[in-house]
Amino acid sequence: MDMQKVPSREGDHNLKDYEQVKQNFSWDKVKGNFSWHETGKVNAAYEAIDRHAEDPQKQNKTALLYTAPGREERLTFGELRNLSNRFANVLKKHDVNKGDRVFLFMPRSPEFYAAFFGILKVGAIAGPLFEAFMEQAVRDRLQDSEAKVLITTPDLLERVPQDDLPSLEKIVLVGEGEKSAPVYVDYEKEMEQASDAFSIEWVDLEDGMLLHYTSGSTGKPKGVYHVHNAMIQHYATAEWVLDLKQDDIYWCTADPGWVTGTSYGIFAPWLHGITNVIRGGRFSPEDWYGTIEKHEVSVWYTAPTALRMLVSAGADVANKFALSSLRHILSVGEPLNPEVVTWGLKAFDLRIHDTWWMTETGAILIANIPSEEIRPGSMGKPVPGIEAAIIDNEGNEVPAKQMGNLAIKEGWPSMMRAVWNNPSKFESYFINGWYVSGDSAYKDEDGYFWFQGRLDDVINTSGERVGPFEVESKLIEHEAIAEAGVIGKPHPERGEIIKAFITLNDGYKESEELLEDIRQFVKTGLSAHAAPREIEVKDAIPKTRSGKIMRRLLKSWELGLPTGDTSTLEE
Ligand code: WT7
Repeated sequence: MDMQKVPSREGDHNLKDYEQVKQNFSWDKVKGNFSWHETGKVNAAYEAIDRHAEDPQKQNKTALLYTAPGREERLTFGELRNLSNRFANVLKKHDVNKGDRVFLFMPRSPEFYAAFFGILKVGAIAGPLFEAFMEQAVRDRLQDSEAKVLITTPDLLERVPQDDLPSLEKIVLVGEGEKSAPVYVDYEKEMEQASDAFSIEWVDLEDGMLLHYTSGSTGKPKGVYHVHNAMIQHYATAEWVLDLKQDDIYWCTADPGWVTGTSYGIFAPWLHGITNVIRGGRFSPEDWYGTIEKHEVSVWYTAPTALRMLVSAGADVANKFALSSLRHILSVGEPLNPEVVTWGLKAFDLRIHDTWWMTETGAILIANIPSEEIRPGSMGKPVPGIEAAIIDNEGNEVPAKQMGNLAIKEGWPSMMRAVWNNPSKFESYFINGWYVSGDSAYKDEDGYFWFQGRLDDVINTSGERVGPFEVESKLIEHEAIAEAGVIGKPHPERGEIIKAFITLNDGYKESEELLEDIRQFVKTGLSAHAAPREIEVKDAIPKTRSGKIMRRLLKSWELGLPTGDTSTLEE
């Protein structure tokens, strides 16, 4: 087989004639699939859960299939409706109203999903936080969003800085532990007392639904704000790209603390009423293959880092499991190496379909779909309704095969509507009607897009986005460190790892213990994925005359590349 081209998939897939669908396409037609077509008002929780719970054919279908070490549980659409109604009643009792921010900081569990939909049902805005966040990461997000309620577990409470959060009124505690303080709400007790019935707060399509914090090259993490309208695109891409069908068992491996875990771990499958596998716990090849085998997963959405780890675990591990239930595999988050696509053809006898999008875009914009040929290494083509282009810095399109900014014509349903409390940051994404992604790419003559790299200093480690500024800020809080510059260093499995260059304060000497202490300091202060795997002590950190760290120069040094223009370098 020509490794440069993997032919389209045979058989019965949802998007058969890409060109034709693209031509006759309108978002308004997609909207016709939802009940608000008649009422004018919506709620994504209703469309994802209650609508199926009201359907006699579907109310007893498994919606959530939860599996984690030591716990396995199924919830039907009917049960998930009732639980989320109960939680909506709990929130109402504590005066949570439309537009309030309610954050979730807990591991994936059935309670998480009941709470998530409860938040939407009262018209509040949900802010899911990755469970590995440490105190400062939690503080930054709760402060910036002025969250009113936080849902967490007694175990994670020590990472919640309760004194610094004047807007935070209540903390809902899920699971065993001490819950007697007046700010605490006992989840089990109040759920027990709450009614199964709730009358949903109907909202407008443009009302707020989600806040996902993500990193840029400067400043603190930014709150990317999404509205209910986004579900139109979750619904449509679930059909065309995920190729979901009623009998599928679907598994998206992402945590809901990241956008993939909400758009495609919650909305895409449930808007179609499909059984959704949620796996808690950490990654291991055996557990993951075991999950596919045991639950007969048919559609699987995962990430290059995980796939690369499966590749290095070897065929012996894969051969221990029956994986023939799989019929469609997708990937997102980082470049999908052509070798992994080739491996997938052998290991699963299936193509792995790359998809490209961002926290800010809310849903898949560019993808390889089943009916089209795949060019390994390419992200694919824009989905129907999306116009993508490569533009120069003035906002003009450049010819095919020329590198530039990957940009999208403004106005798709799932696009972020604001950066929370930061209108100028929001504005800075746009030029001439284009949303500029920050990725560099080129387009080939046939319209396939090829990712080249980030144009800013944002680091992508194991598919997780890390802002160098955040890590640098944490580093210089360490008593031994004077200055710090942080870069992403290429790594075969993780895509990039975080490398820090530091200078030490007087009186401190480099030692293995000190570097380990620094690593732990970032790990426990910020989060494990933000901790530098490599630290190098320098005499000075290169800066511009205006005092900006020249990360590009650090990277060139690290990679042994030409240093380019250093005219702005400070003496
Ligand atoms: C950045 C967005 C929402 C998806 C999860 C990550 C990189 C994403 C691909 C891909 C190469 C990719 C880009 C993008 N990225 N998908 N298929 N190939 N790079 O969301 O954390 O907002 O990160 O991830 O650099 O800008 P995110």
